[in-house]
This record gives sequence, structure tokens and C-alpha cells, in this order.
Amino acid sequence: MARVYNFSAGPSMLPEAVLQRAQAELLDYKGSGQSVMEMSHRSKWFDDIIHDTEAALRRVLNVPDNYKVGFFQGGATQQFAMVPLNFMESGTADYIVTGNFSKKAAEEGAKFGTARIAASSKDKNFTYIPDVKAIEYGKDASYIHICQNNTIFGTRYVEVPEVPGVPLVADMSSMICSEPVDVTKYGCIYFGVQKNIAPAGMAVAIVREDLLGKSAKGCAPEQIPTMMNYTTLLGAGSMYNTPPCWCIYMTGLVMDWLERDIGGLAAMQARNAAKARVLYDYLDGQDFYKNPVEKRYRSMMNVTFTSPTQELDKAFCSAAAEAGFVNLKGHRLVGGMRASIYNAMPPEGIDRLVDFMEAFRREHA
Ligand SMILES: Cc1ncc(COP(=O)(O)O)c(C=O)c1O
Repeated sequence: MARVYNFSAGPSMLPEAVLQRAQAELLDYKGSGQSVMEMSHRSKWFDDIIHDTEAALRRVLNVPDNYKVGFFQGGATQQFAMVPLNFMESGTADYIVTGNFSKKAAEEGAKFGTARIAASSKDKNFTYIPDVKAIEYGKDASYIHICQNNTIFGTRYVEVPEVPGVPLVADMSSMICSEPVDVTKYGCIYFGVQKNIAPAGMAVAIVREDLLGKSAKGCAPEQIPTMMNYTTLLGAGSMYNTPPCWCIYMTGLVMDWLERDIGGLAAMQARNAAKARVLYDYLDGQDFYKNPVEKRYRSMMNVTFTSPTQELDKAFCSAAAEAGFVNLKGHRLVGGMRASIYNAMPPEGIDRLVDFMEAFRREHA
């Protein structure tokens, strides 16, 4: 079996042990005579799956009891609209724009009220995170929205805004479960699952209970479309309609892997930090490749770099693909290369990539 090292920003690699377990359970899930893809979401098997998955996710992320956890379709992009629709009670919210996805979130917010750009790192092409302590937050902001890890630009927050009385809402799509998170700092955490958790097709939201029952100014809670209403969907335990059953099942398997094989998020963080260090140390030790990000804010998940010319970038990506390192092309907004090194990327994938980068450098420097 020849598996490549897949550096895709998402959908991305899943742990091999998880894929093997899914394969073993595929045709006959626990004696049901069916696969999880086929069974009724009202069956006792699926009932156990969704409850066990939520319980495991709560354990892994240490989610307190006063938060609800929901599984939604529509991806993280739908959450960009659900957040203002459900929480922008005062008609205004603060957005910190640190890249493409936080910009998109702010644009959705502006459809429901005033999405105030409290700070932005656009002046330096999103290569840093604004100092969250120096920002003047809006007095009547219903919430502050951040994107915790910027998938395209390869940056991450090292500290987050903490404003008493103003809930913090974070898009954690590209770093969730890569390290421990203090959930109590947030009013709402949401993420698409297709990077660190499961196949594409689902977003998860973790919402503090006191934020439920609200709505954007000028929109009564009952006017929120049902499939965008956190209160309704979370109240129904993510079973208001047919949920994304397969993604929920795979999420459960990955939570199991994190708990049993890895040993929890502190161990995952240590493994991820060691992986990222290998790549950043290599980048810092030579002059051929460049990483534009301010060191303090370097992402542990998405590592961007360029070679001396666009032609060499292109040559690098095709030679890398031939050698079994795929999806290294950078996002069109940044160019160059990007190695997404999520939880499931094994440490040897980074070691081999660095060997390849050095061989390419020697050939072309
Ligand atoms: C940080 C972040 N937020 C949001 C999205 C959009 O997610 P989705 O495609 O699930 O809507 C992405 C996708 O790459 C992302 O990286």
C-alpha cells in the first residue's frame, strides 16, 4: 500500500488507525448488519454513536457543563452567518480581521448589523496578529469574533481578547484539538471538521448556554431560519433533522484516537510543537526558502514558505508531488507553498519533507 504524505489544508489526512477501524467496522457495525452510512439516525446504534461522540469531544476539549455542543451541516462558512443571526443582539459586534476567513465572517456579520473591524493585520499582508490588549473594543459589541488560526496565512493567536461581559467567539477550524483550549474564555467556539477531526461535511459549535435564546437586533428569535437557530438545534441534541451521521461517527473515532493512542490534547500539543519545530528550524537555518510570518505568531498547523522565484515554487510542488508529498501549493492569496501539518500528519512526514526540501535547495540554489 502506497500512501502519500498529504499536506492539504483541508480536507486533510486522517489518522491511519482511524481509517483502519472505520474500514473494519464498515460492512457490519457492531453486529447491526449495516454500515453507519446506511443506518437510521433514530436507531439505537446511532443513538449510542452521537451520545458517545459528544461525550468524548467534551472530555477531550474539557467542555464545562454550561456549554452545549452541536453538530451542524453547512460548514464553518454557515457559522459565519449563524453567529450574528443568533448573537448580535445590540446590532453591533467587533471583528478582528487576520486573514481571509475572518474577513468573510465580518462580511456575513455586516448583513445583520454593524460588523466593526476592531483591528486588522491587512497592512502587512496578514503576517502577524494584532496586539489584543491594545485594541479598543466597541462599548456595545454583542461579541468579539476572532479566527484563532489563519489557515491561508499561517498565523495563530498566542493570547486572545478577554473583555469582561463581552463573549468571545472563535473560529477554530484549523487548530481545534491540536492543543488544549480553555473553553471558559469563549462564549462560542466553532469549527469545520475537515482538517483535524473528520471528513468534510460538518461543523461543530460549542455554545455557552446563557447566549441561547437571543437573536440579531430587528430579528425576533422565532424568525431565525430553523436550520440556523442554535437554540432549536442544540435543544434537539443535533437531531432536529437528519444529522451528518458519518461525520459524527468519524469524529467519535478520532476522539477515541486522541484519548487512547495520543493521550489527550497536552500530548497532542507536544507532538505538534515538535513537528512544527523541525520545519521552522529548517526554514530558519537556510536562505533559499522564506517564511514571512512574524515568529511569535507562527501557526503550528499551517506553515507557509516561498522559494526564490515563482517558477521554482512551481517546480518544487510538482517534484514534491512526484516524490509523494502532495498538496503543497500555497493558497492563491499568498503564493509559494504551504505545508498543513495537522494532527494526523506523522512526525516522519515532516522529517521526510525537510529532507526533500534540502535536496531541492541543493539542486536549485
Ligand atoms: C479557519 C477557517 N475558517 C473557515 C473555513 C471555511 O470552512 P468550510 O469550508 O467548512 O465552510 C476554513 C476552510 O478552510 C478555514 O480554514
